[in-house]
Amino acid sequence: MSNSMVSVLYLISALLFIFALRGLSHPESSRLGNIFGVIGMIIAIVTTLMFKSVLSYLEIGLAILVGGTIGSIIAIRIKMTALPQLVAAFHSLVGIAAVFVAAAAFYDPESFKIGQFGSISSSSLIEMSIGTFIGGITFSGSVLAFGKLQGIVSGRPIVFKYQHIINALIFLFIIFLIIFFINNQSPTIFWTLVLVSILLGFLVVVPIGGADMPVVVSMLNSYSGWAACGIGFTLSNNLLIITGALVGASGAILSYIMSKGMNRSIISVVLGGFGGEQANSTSKDESDKIVKQGNAEDAAYILKNADSVIIVPGYGMAVAQAQHALREMGDILKNNGIQVRYAIHPVAGRMPGHMNVLLAEANVPYEKVLELDEINHDFPMTEVSFVIGANDVTNPAAKTDKTSPIFGMPILDVEKSQTVLFVKRSMATGYSGVDNELFYRDNTTMLFGDAKKMCENIVKSLN
Ligand code: TAP
Repeated sequence: MSNSMVSVLYLISALLFIFALRGLSHPESSRLGNIFGVIGMIIAIVTTLMFKSVLSYLEIGLAILVGGTIGSIIAIRIKMTALPQLVAAFHSLVGIAAVFVAAAAFYDPESFKIGQFGSISSSSLIEMSIGTFIGGITFSGSVLAFGKLQGIVSGRPIVFKYQHIINALIFLFIIFLIIFFINNQSPTIFWTLVLVSILLGFLVVVPIGGADMPVVVSMLNSYSGWAACGIGFTLSNNLLIITGALVGASGAILSYIMSKGMNRSIISVVLGGFGGEQANSTSKDESDKIVKQGNAEDAAYILKNADSVIIVPGYGMAVAQAQHALREMGDILKNNGIQVRYAIHPVAGRMPGHMNVLLAEANVPYEKVLELDEINHDFPMTEVSFVIGANDVTNPAAKTDKTSPIFGMPILDVEKSQTVLFVKRSMATGYSGVDNELFYRDNTTMLFGDAKKMCENIVKSLN
């Protein structure tokens, strides 16, 4: 295949990837976005396989078969709630791949047309060392993020004295190593660079607490994109450069959106120390804590007699897979002339768009699903807020308690509605570990139980 043909096909793939990202930004267009992405990837792979430089189709075919089989098995088995750690695990592979490609180019530069061993061009050495550095950090940071999210390693932030200074010194040492490596092309310096980058990846993620981990995963996603971009330069592959940059940029934007939703700066997330705090029940005296409890029949009665209901889903809805039963409940209310809408907090659940995806899967109409800033001012005019498996995203402590770890996070003002129905299994805290004083308010009724079973029982009572 001629070079100009390759360029045209790569350009088409790159455009399809951009359309894919555009499509994935809204649930309605996400299927089409996915199709664009798949077609773009097929064109990219087939074009690459047409290269004259391909040596063995058998080896490539075997690698695709093994990788494809493992990927398919994981995709079929994985639970929605375990996606963040899966993504972290996959990022570690991109990171280590970047290191291996750099090592291959370093030891066999002739195959990569970048010179000879010991006399590689400086520009290639710069690309190689930056790719190695980002790849090393992505690898170890992602492995640790996986361990924390999977519960293999404690999710508490590990902080120690002079941590930031030590990290800054290691970073300076890495710059020194890169300059040294470019000048003398020594294998020892190359592997020292690999090891020190891996060490820095661990040290950067170690102080980050549980609640901030999804932001970190998204940042590692961004790093993995830049690592792939680095591989693209080493392999002189334009499509890899473009795709890596797309992943790098979109991961960075996502991290920004998520930290904005949690009202914290990216810098404070990176510097760490947040998210491992334990429950801090300071809202009231223990003796004052009276909780009003109800059951499915009570809830059905309250809901049936309301004019307007706002449903606030959270992580618990995802755990219970309650979205279908919830939609059925919403449909019955709607058929009784009740206005039913859904309020989505930007960080409800455990990953961006978590609630939107589940509600879309249950065929909840998109126009009934509203973002925090679109619906928050409607709570005072709403009769019933039906909070299902959400906790932190409704906690007024975020507005009032300066000592709270979630202080400053924008929250859904459910307490302003006439009645709040809270579906959860116990009085346990949410992800941040902070008690929710809403449970003890006069206008709150707790509906203890699994979210799906509770919705099914409410549906029975409504019928
Ligand atoms: P959470 O505050 O984590 O609360 C979820 C609640 O669901 C828990 O209190 C739990 O109480 C309940 N629950 C669990 N399983 C249930 C089941 N089977 N049936 C009924 N209830 C169940 O969730 P949220 O309000 O969605 O807030 C998300 C949290 O994650 C925030 O702290 C946010 O900062 C953090 N976070 C999210 C993201 C993204 S991108 N989404 C990113 C970073 C951090 P029980 O155990 O009593 O049932």
